[in-house]
Amino acid sequence: MSLDRHLWPAGTATGPDGAVRIAGVDLRALAAEHGTPAYVLDEADFRARARAFVAGFGAAFAEIGTVVDVYYAGKAFLCTAVARWAHEEGLRIDTATGGELAVALRAQIPGQDIGLHGNNKSDAEIGRALDAGVGRIVVDSLAEIERVADAVAARPERAGHPAPVMVRVTTGVHAGGHEYIATAHEDQKFGLSVTGGQAMTGLLAVLARPELELVGLHSHIGSQILDPSGFEAAARVVLTLRAELAARTGHLVPEVDLGGGYGIAYLPGDVPLDPARVAKDIAGVVADTCGELGTPLPRISIEPGRAIVGPSTVTLYTVGTVKPVPLDGGIVRTYVSVDGGMSDNLRPALYGARYSAALVSRGSVAEPVLARVVGKHCESGDIVVHDVDLPGDIAAGDLLAVPATGAYGRSMASNYNLVPRPPVIAVAEGATRVLVRRETEDDLLALDVS
Ligand code: LLP
Repeated sequence: MSLDRHLWPAGTATGPDGAVRIAGVDLRALAAEHGTPAYVLDEADFRARARAFVAGFGAAFAEIGTVVDVYYAGKAFLCTAVARWAHEEGLRIDTATGGELAVALRAQIPGQDIGLHGNNKSDAEIGRALDAGVGRIVVDSLAEIERVADAVAARPERAGHPAPVMVRVTTGVHAGGHEYIATAHEDQKFGLSVTGGQAMTGLLAVLARPELELVGLHSHIGSQILDPSGFEAAARVVLTLRAELAARTGHLVPEVDLGGGYGIAYLPGDVPLDPARVAKDIAGVVADTCGELGTPLPRISIEPGRAIVGPSTVTLYTVGTVKPVPLDGGIVRTYVSVDGGMSDNLRPALYGARYSAALVSRGSVAEPVLARVVGKHCESGDIVVHDVDLPGDIAAGDLLAVPATGAYGRSMASNYNLVPRPPVIAVAEGATRVLVRRETEDDLLALDVS
């Protein structure tokens, strides 16, 4: 069976025996050594995608005369190794919580190269970000502007060193996949509305506090976006706001962050956004809009997460029960149960996300059957792959892999049914390396202090 190149990590190859290797590692050997389920991450693929953003956006914006900083959005998946890889490839690290910040700092990413987001940052998170000297805190509400400024004022060592802040604005542009992952329409919790005037109020509030330095405007319009026009529309709104603020106060905000959200392929036939192409489109709009407004170009930043780590990773499962279920009209659906499920990939249950899967431990010439890959949890909604053709001789003990699970798979994993979370295993040049070890029942019981 041939694997769709868009869906699988770049290092994926099928051997003559039909077994699949990633980065030279036979998945059968990986399963034997590390067990299943496991997230298998192709390091070279991750690095190449990270580099492609730096190169594609860098070139497109150099052409119009400005620079781009690429932040890897750690919420998609973060561990110390991945933070270091991203940083080595020239990216900075975007964090959204104290936990993500802690991982970035443990990875020894310099504070200057870290950003902190969050719509409800705790005082502890703000304090830690200040103490780490993060390059920017993205403020998300009027109240938070005062809280960050007060936290700076309470730190004598920061006297004369204002905190670099960006103001997150909502542009009214609706983009992205599921409603829950679209973020720039007005009726939601993130940011300050441009059309409602709160964004301007927030910007003036930042300028009024000497403890804060207004370094940027931030817009993130959603996730899994496949049509670049949303980025362009949002860029126009943000650049116009920037010009209005400059006209009103003389302060020209130096940087504009256009967020993440670059969509990837999940199914055969899906066409992912190409970073280099979309960069060109956005750069064109930025140049034109600044030209029309008569404002100098800002420095630009972006925050891709999914598009870097998503396609780099597959989830490897072992098949257990195989159950043919007769449907109406004489159709049979083969339910293929695997040893994980909604605890390692919540996206199908939460967003109705669709995936594909393939038999990776052997070849098969059996006629394909209509299959549904399901997990081991106590819910009928515990579906990993809704519909996929699998060889009719699929059987217990076979290995199945689901591609494109690197983003928001491990990071949203749970212990539902007290299932320990799978490890993340990097593969590179024929070798495996455990990045995040498998959780054990002892780990789970360690929390049970009753
Ligand atoms: N920047 C900000 C401010 C964000 O909120 C996000 C994602 C990103 C960057 C990265 O977006 P990406 O490039 O990864 O699309 N759990 C959902 C996705 C939630 C995205 C939340 N914010 C999912 O599994 O589809």
